[in-house]
Amino acid sequence: MKPKDLILVLDFGGQYNQLIARRVRECNVYSEVVPFNISLEEIKKKNPKGIIFTGGPASVYGAESPKCVDGIFELGIPILGICYGMQLMSYILGGKVSSASTREYGETNVNIDNTSLLFKGFESTNIFLMSHTDYVESLPEGFRRIGYTSSCPNAAIENKDKKLYGIQFHPEVNNSVNGSLVIKNFLYNVCNCSGDWVMSSFVEDSIRSLKEKIGNKKALCALSGGVDSSVAAVLLSKAIGKNLTCIFVDHGLLRKNEGDEVEKVFTSQYDLNFIRVNAKDLFLDKLSGVTDPEAKRKIIGEEFIRVFEQEAKKIGKVDFLVQGTIYPDVIESGLGKSSVIKSHHNVGGLPDTIDFKEIIEPLRNLFKDEVRKTGLELGIPENLVYRQPFPGPGLAIRIIGNITEDKLDILKDADKIFTDEIKNAGLDRSINQYFAVLTNLKSVGVMGDERTYDYTIALRAVETTDFMTGNWSKIPYDVLGKVSNRIVNEVKHVNRVVYDITSKPPATIEWE
Ligand code: XMP
Repeated sequence: MKPKDLILVLDFGGQYNQLIARRVRECNVYSEVVPFNISLEEIKKKNPKGIIFTGGPASVYGAESPKCVDGIFELGIPILGICYGMQLMSYILGGKVSSASTREYGETNVNIDNTSLLFKGFESTNIFLMSHTDYVESLPEGFRRIGYTSSCPNAAIENKDKKLYGIQFHPEVNNSVNGSLVIKNFLYNVCNCSGDWVMSSFVEDSIRSLKEKIGNKKALCALSGGVDSSVAAVLLSKAIGKNLTCIFVDHGLLRKNEGDEVEKVFTSQYDLNFIRVNAKDLFLDKLSGVTDPEAKRKIIGEEFIRVFEQEAKKIGKVDFLVQGTIYPDVIESGLGKSSVIKSHHNVGGLPDTIDFKEIIEPLRNLFKDEVRKTGLELGIPENLVYRQPFPGPGLAIRIIGNITEDKLDILKDADKIFTDEIKNAGLDRSINQYFAVLTNLKSVGVMGDERTYDYTIALRAVETTDFMTGNWSKIPYDVLGKVSNRIVNEVKHVNRVVYDITSKPPATIEWE
């Protein structure tokens, strides 16, 4: 069931588009990202309380530049244009957009008119992130300036009667001070939203509508131990109890103790049928001697589906297959943007020989942070809900080269030490992903008076919002030192620890 108020975010290709939609939702208003050229009929059907035009790399004068449909400004729906979105609005409504001789980039002091509804609660100046070359030189009729900087004459504009607003800066990024307040002002002061998007009502509504939809029929869910499939499964179990069967294929490539933790949560806390398939030997057998990263990924992806299918066949016909698809997957595939650097294997990928009537994706409208909030609402333990992302192929792609059981054990122990120490240092929420890699490199060391010839463990830690780009994390030396000491002392066959100081790009987050 959808909430009453909707904000449409028209995607003009800017890099922060998902972030804008997330910020809106953080203000308790539901939002959806849609293509920039969405038709008037479609907009009317969706009946939004407001529309936001995102930024984008184009110039309004470019022949190929993305344009919204004619008539959108006459719908009477409030519109906020951000960066390119502001320029487009001005250009279409008769203003003049020009190109500056140099690009303005960075955190900039913006003089603002705080009598505008958009800037209610602000001081007369505020730091916002600017990133543009084009700017609005003269305003369309009916507009007035409500913000400027030393180099940008019109950094914010409004036509209060028509509820049209434009800002040259990016309120959605953290570098903008109180940026969320600009969005909140637009939602509540201009669009009159009621703030009805809260996770508790999402949970209640979802359970109710899943009950109605599924009734007494049966559903099947593949569990990976990850956040998304776990939350989807629990939501379903609250709706249909024992009519849900979860199959947890444990490929043996999970982190230390992880398989047992997943089993414990699902068997002790929730009412559902839980089947754990311990398939480590099978996976290790299939992976034996395989060194090529893509080959490893393919084998694991295929084998996972095969094991899942075999188990599902034992259950017989099911009516629904549950998947943990989340909103960023929907946006990215919907807008055709994904690029394949690695063939990602997402546990829960669609087996095509299972007999079922329909797929259910209860989280397809949620961002990751909302999935986590939903998980907490459902009583899933924090350590599972805040689990960092973990690739479907698991530790297989963190052991460079050939995989053996011994290597797996070494990596699990080293990884546990690293993750424990990151938590002890209170860094686990600020670093978005951190893990150990078993390099295939052996080197000479000395332990006591003995020469050793053992493995090198690499530590990887990145800070990122979207996992498409990221910076290596500046972990304090004393934390790194402690991790290194503990690993070489406590994990047999490791005599050297190195820290990966490459950002993405050019490196990827995982090593394979
Ligand atoms: P890379 O290594 O491409 O990883 O920089 C970006 C993010 O994706 C995760 N990752 C995967 N997730 N199946 C997944 O579900 C996969 O096959 C896979 N490979 C990488 C990686 O952990 C990081 O968060």
